[in-house]
Amino acid sequence: MNSFTLERVARATKKFVRKAIGCSCLEDYSVEKRRMMWSMVKPLEKRHIHNCKLLEDRLKMLEYMPKNAVCAEIGILRCEFSESILEITQPSKLHLIDIDPNAINIAKEKFKDKIASGQVEVHLGDSAATLMAMSDNYFDWTYVDGDHSYLGAKRDLEASRLKLKTDGLIAVNDYVYFSVSDFKKYGVLEAVNDFCINHSFEMLFLAFQGRSYNDVVLRKITSEIAI
Ligand SMILES: C[S@@+](CC[C@H](N)C(=O)[O-])C[C@H]1O[C@@H](n2cnc3c(N)ncnc32)[C@H](O)[C@@H]1O
Repeated sequence: MNSFTLERVARATKKFVRKAIGCSCLEDYSVEKRRMMWSMVKPLEKRHIHNCKLLEDRLKMLEYMPKNAVCAEIGILRCEFSESILEITQPSKLHLIDIDPNAINIAKEKFKDKIASGQVEVHLGDSAATLMAMSDNYFDWTYVDGDHSYLGAKRDLEASRLKLKTDGLIAVNDYVYFSVSDFKKYGVLEAVNDFCINHSFEMLFLAFQGRSYNDVVLRKITSEIAI
């Protein structure tokens, strides 16, 4: 047997075993079944994208974010992007929010001096609840990268909107329908499109990422132009 045939036999055997023990997984579903399980995303209109600029990556995106600003990163993990935010945008205040104590401990260790000086503040807890406890009209921008389910992203977008300055920006990571690393559907793309449609926000930037975990930056539409 060649390796191709061996792989097919192995895949069929695994599928048979999964079926026998009543534990099917994504690969076992037909294309039609997967399409039925996952709804179509509401399309954006021209008004939502006509000012949108394409960028090579999210570090380039940071160059366009306001300097000396009040901002928040929602979901920090190992604080690698937090470091880039600090270095590239030089915020006056950066709130780092995560529900995982390990992430918060990394932040406390990494940014000891900046926490002491007041430039960085860390928050352990649910991101939407944490944002909602802050003052209105407070953030120049937020970076949403926490819970990637539809409802999770929707809550973070909504909380960001309510706490943003009038001309504030919301950057969102993982504007993607399916995560190739987690091998599961994400809800971020749907949440962002629904948010733009329901609250009249437009995309200012779409920044590419190698595995399609693209970023978008959103802003309230202030004036409708004839398109
Ligand atoms: C993809 S990682 C963030 C990566 C980071 N922004 C970066 O670019 O390096 C997602 C993080 O969100 C956190 N998270 C998930 N759900 C959350 C929630 N409801 N509230 C706060 N943080 C959450 C996870 O603990 C995890 O650290």
